[in-house]
Amino acid sequence: MKKQFFIANWKSHKTADEATQWFVEAAADIHLTKDSEREVVICPPFPLLSLCAEEVKKQQIPFAIGAQDVSSFSEGAYTGEVSGRLIKDFATYVIIGHSERRRYFHETDEMLFEKVKQAHAYGLQVVYCVDSKEGKIPEGVNIVAYEPVAAIGTGHPDDPSDAEAVAGFLKAQNGVSYVLYGGSVTAEDIANYTQLPSIDGVLVGGASLAPKDFISLIQHA
Ligand code: PGA
Repeated sequence: MKKQFFIANWKSHKTADEATQWFVEAAADIHLTKDSEREVVICPPFPLLSLCAEEVKKQQIPFAIGAQDVSSFSEGAYTGEVSGRLIKDFATYVIIGHSERRRYFHETDEMLFEKVKQAHAYGLQVVYCVDSKEGKIPEGVNIVAYEPVAAIGTGHPDDPSDAEAVAGFLKAQNGVSYVLYGGSVTAEDIANYTQLPSIDGVLVGGASLAPKDFISLIQHA
């Protein structure tokens, strides 16, 4: 079986209590057999990274932790920034270039390329987001998430055959090992994507906020 990624992007949701509750409920609901080909990654907001890293250990849930962003600067006098050096104590992955970062925070390809360098300097695995097959992918990136903007948070996922074509193109052009699909994925439609040959998993926003939904989605892949 091919390796599959299930990445939960909590965006700017959840207090500490809500996050703790998520893991308690996930632990009670989880009926996943251990599978080395399945990589599940929870990406909470920065203030919850430490708590989530503790909770997966405490609840013995085989999930990894990721950050939703990383500073394009190294450690230093950069007020409000979170550098890779600070993230790496708690997380193994980082999402870079999400369309919401590009749109609301005006992140450019240049800035994002610097972020990738920082992530790599601190040994973080990058999940790099693009919204089309034209998306520029920085060197050394091995996991790409294809997320068409019109599909994010709208309840209108991309056509699976389109997602498959883009994923195949991105692999052929850039030599990346894994391409994930993201945009309104649910338990009902996940198999339409994960069963396609070029798609290696999903990046999930809304359907990752309730543990029941997210675990059900993994089970339906
Ligand atoms: P969505 O978000 O699943 O809520 O559409 C996906 C994403 O933005 O990564």
